Amino acid sequence: DWTPEHYVDTAVAALQRTIGPDDQVILGLSGGVDSSVAALLLHRAIGPRLHGIFVNNGLLRKEEFESVLHSYQGLGLNVTGVDASEAFYDALKGLSDPEQKRKAIGRTFIEVFDREAHKVEGARWLAQGTIYPDVIESVSVKGPAVTIKSHHNVGGLPEQMNLKIVEPLRMLFKDEVREVGETLGLPHHILHRHPFPGPGLGIRILGDITAEKVRLLQAADAVFIDALHQHGLYEKVWQAGAILLPIQSVGVMGDERTYEQVVALRAVTSVDGMTADWAHLPYEFLAEVSNRIINQVRGINRVVYDISSKPPATIEWE
Ligand code: XMP
Repeated sequence: DWTPEHYVDTAVAALQRTIGPDDQVILGLSGGVDSSVAALLLHRAIGPRLHGIFVNNGLLRKEEFESVLHSYQGLGLNVTGVDASEAFYDALKGLSDPEQKRKAIGRTFIEVFDREAHKVEGARWLAQGTIYPDVIESVSVKGPAVTIKSHHNVGGLPEQMNLKIVEPLRMLFKDEVREVGETLGLPHHILHRHPFPGPGLGIRILGDITAEKVRLLQAADAVFIDALHQHGLYEKVWQAGAILLPIQSVGVMGDERTYEQVVALRAVTSVDGMTADWAHLPYEFLAEVSNRIINQVRGINRVVYDISSKPPATIEWE
């Protein structure tokens, strides 16, 4: 019978047999479940010879980089946090097309990750948090009729640095990954985090991206996500977030006419993200979130709720 404890024991033993006693291992951490569980498993096997690299692309949720880095360090992981926000904003400057934005983000990620990886002396392995569903079907990414693997593909690094690939979660389904993570002591907030796209808020700011728009969206998104937690709704939806629309609309505040940004809220129920229904969140809840965003986030004067299901609408707007 499969148990997470048994899986941990056998995987740790296998990793210790496979990875040489002086070999260093590099792993890109995203704050998501898979890479975090892979890190804990490798850490159990080889301790500080696992070198985690966590890149802040400037497109994460509000305070996510600091809080996740803190959690990793609390778990004893050897992790380097790299704040590369400016490099990403520079690469994104003037780009509005979703695919061009994805490419710029992916390219910049590889540059930053490669630079950090080259600093690890004695690196022999690149670890990846690939899980079984990734093996049988690549994550579908929107593009001109193509299905390609998402940003986790780190390009030419393995050949360049002569690294071998190690994927300790390759045989696991998502629920098994969570059980293994729980056994290894991964905190609840990482274990039960919603899926979050690699390009992050970069594909939730429609049109071009600026640091100022990121701050605006982070603030609105944080209000929404905090409220989902407060009302016990976070774990009832599969994914949720806010989208900054590239339009302004007229509003009124006191005696003043305003002309400000619109935010759309998106929350879906789903099993695997391939199909999804818009989450039927209570009206009272939506009203509260709308009021809080408009009152607390300067620059937003209108909130709308996305009631489209997938298909034909996708979960993300870009
Ligand atoms: P869609 O929008 O295609 O999203 O219905 C399905 C799931 O995939 C995520 N997604 C991405 N993940 N890179 C990623 O790593 C991407 O470019 C990307 N685009 C969409 C999306 O958040 C949802 O969970």
